[in-house]
Amino acid sequence: MDFILYEQKNGYAIVTINREKALNALNSQVLEELDATLDALDFSAVRCLIVTGAGQKSFVAGADIGEMSTLTKAEGEAFGKKGNAVFRKLESLPIPVIAAVNGFALGGGCELSLSCDIRLASENARFGQPETGLGITPGFGGTQRLARAIGVGKAKEMLYACTQVKAEEAKAIGLVNAVYPIDELLPAAEKLAAKIAANAPIAVRNTKKAVNDGLQVDIDSAIAIEAKLFGDCFESADQKEGMAAFLERREHAPFENK
Ligand code: CAA
Repeated sequence: MDFILYEQKNGYAIVTINREKALNALNSQVLEELDATLDALDFSAVRCLIVTGAGQKSFVAGADIGEMSTLTKAEGEAFGKKGNAVFRKLESLPIPVIAAVNGFALGGGCELSLSCDIRLASENARFGQPETGLGITPGFGGTQRLARAIGVGKAKEMLYACTQVKAEEAKAIGLVNAVYPIDELLPAAEKLAAKIAANAPIAVRNTKKAVNDGLQVDIDSAIAIEAKLFGDCFESADQKEGMAAFLERREHAPFENK
């Protein structure tokens, strides 16, 4: 792959968008490589994923403006669908995804971070949706996920006025969970990933599904989704070991994803 770095660690993996010369902007090839990387994940070994950008300046500075500049209406729609399909795949992975936002997260970069479960940011991170200033709408889910993440009013300001948000404000409005000096960002993301990876994978997977699916439906349907996923856990060996360990006042054995 030319533009994606993949590193597998003990229980989690790090995907780095590696197109630093263009501030990690997403062209078609980057999207295709990211898609293939997600398809190749081995969930028996990878229980949490970190997504970050190469270098210390930019997470992802958006979709590639040069590539988009000459698109026709049909090509524009196809490009939007392509990006959305990859981001939806990322959002729907059966493992949590942490965005380690190491600088600019603009346009498609902000949208990429919004497709992750949790966002951590470096002090120099900057979020924004500059699309209306370029004559387009956000195209990789920004009109939908930003409002769901931070509320409609602030999202609409960011979308209509292209107002950018620095790291501390992003934390204040709930767009990121925590802010770190740039050198501490990845270690913090890895620490969190390792903590998630140590918990029972089936339980984590079902919890993610319950939150994500439940947010799309009314509360009665959402609770029914939760009940089903809660019940499913009782078929797992990890549930038996987790609860037995508690009752026997001992550490549980490492969870086995079964
Ligand atoms: N697409 C293509 N190339 C990009 C890019 C992008 N989104 N963002 C940065 N680059 C390239 C620049 O063209 C430049 O390349 P060259 O060295 O070959 O000229 C290189 O990255 C470095 O960028 P700058 O010289 O501009 O760096 P800077 O420090 O002066 O500014 C920046 C940094 C403020 C992030 C600025 O690059 C910028 O505004 N980038 C565009 C951000 C943007 O508008 N993103 C939204 C794109 S639209 C979108 O994403 C649609 C969607 O929803 C799918």
